[in-house]
Amino acid sequence: MPLTGLPTLGVLQRYGHLLNLPDYTQPVTLLEGSTPLIPARRLAEELGGGFELYIKFEGLNPTGSFKDRGMTAAVSEAVGRGATAVICASTGNTAASAAAYAARAGLRAIVLIPAGKVATGKLAGSVAYGAQVVQIQGSFDDALSMVVAISQKHPIALVNSLNPYRLEGQKTAAFEICDSLGRAPDLLCLPVGNAGNISAYWLGFQQYHALHGSGLPRLLGVQAAGAAPLVLGYPVEKPETVATAIRIGRPARGEQALQAAEESGGRICAVSDDEILTMQRRLASEGIWVEPASAAGLAGLAAQIRQAELDLRGQQVVAVCTGHGLKDPDIITGRMAAPVVLPPDMAALEEAILA
Ligand code: F0G
Repeated sequence: MPLTGLPTLGVLQRYGHLLNLPDYTQPVTLLEGSTPLIPARRLAEELGGGFELYIKFEGLNPTGSFKDRGMTAAVSEAVGRGATAVICASTGNTAASAAAYAARAGLRAIVLIPAGKVATGKLAGSVAYGAQVVQIQGSFDDALSMVVAISQKHPIALVNSLNPYRLEGQKTAAFEICDSLGRAPDLLCLPVGNAGNISAYWLGFQQYHALHGSGLPRLLGVQAAGAAPLVLGYPVEKPETVATAIRIGRPARGEQALQAAEESGGRICAVSDDEILTMQRRLASEGIWVEPASAAGLAGLAAQIRQAELDLRGQQVVAVCTGHGLKDPDIITGRMAAPVVLPPDMAALEEAILA
């Protein structure tokens, strides 16, 4: 019997009726979203057990990160109002996503990145999709100030998460999780950088709860200890972390994120680079390879459980893994022992793999 599946939908087709986008919006899509919610039973056991754990693997979006959900919305709005160019500051993923959606729409893309601090796969993506890449000798925060200023002076559409349509698109991840589980999870953990994503999730969960009574999760937002302004309570001038995606010292939506975490009964915490890399390895050992920043949410969950700050008995927990490991291969290849090299000889092979 032939299998006739449903056509794949992008997030604007699937959830556009729930998104606050202008009527003039012209959909630009790469069929993003509808990412899997993967059960992680072994990991849940290791973390103490007694709860259900699911990984929302956002690395399976078209450009390898969750940014595509917001970018389809932001670029669709920009095209609808006649923009011919988009600009963003980025630690890498926003840049690659903006570049791809601009290419899809036939727009020019300009991306500003902190020089030398963007993972290879992200930089390569921006270049491959044809963006004009500008490296700034400064931080993401410096680059963000510059793109905000330039988009106010020239007719270039800003597609950072200060753009409200980015958040509209990113709400769809919360909708998908509720649709998959039949309700909101009890707790959602995720990494926090510029703080757009946690803000968008909270908007999405609140909207779905108002519509469907789906419940509200506690939010656990997790920063890297070297870039944790929301935990410290003040900006970090020189943020530093192996998780370059969240190497941000002045989050644009910091206040909104703190409020979301508080309203939800959750919190924002920080974890060390070691904890992040340990969790990255742990996830990979279950077949899920994420970039370092994407392991931060789960590393934070593990730390909170260890510190007995969380009682999860009987609860459903979703960890958002925001970007694919392929984005940042150097983190792995730079630390691994080079694989053994053998002559094309059976005895040598048997010795190497059976000894
Ligand atoms: N995870 C990944 C993989 C990211 O790329 C980012 C942000 C975050 C988490 C944090 O999300 O900023 O909404 O709190 N990356 C941005 C960028 C800053 O430029 O790609 P956030």
